[in-house]
Amino acid sequence: MDPDDDVCLCFHVSRRKIWNYLRIERPRRAAELSQCEGAGTGCGWCRHFLEQMFSAAQQSLPVDALDLPDRDSYAERRAEYRRRDDTGRPSGDE
Ligand code: FES
Repeated sequence: MDPDDDVCLCFHVSRRKIWNYLRIERPRRAAELSQCEGAGTGCGWCRHFLEQMFSAAQQSLPVDALDLPDRDSYAERRAEYRRRDDTGRPSGDE
């Protein structure tokens, strides 16, 4: 994933925006990343990745330390996540 690729696809919040928010605002909890243009407050798909980024920042790891999926794979996995119903099964399964 490149710096300008979106981590939060719901609100188009890029990896760079999130890193800058972490660096400048120094949130105390991962949930505070929601104040970065609403990151993580939509479908919920990106929350795990936001938590990883928060954890890396807490450990003062370099910006590119996290090996996030490439943009296309990330988007495909998020689309699959959104197709699933509340039981965790793909929509339409009996
Ligand atoms: S991708 Fe971030 S809340 Fe949906």
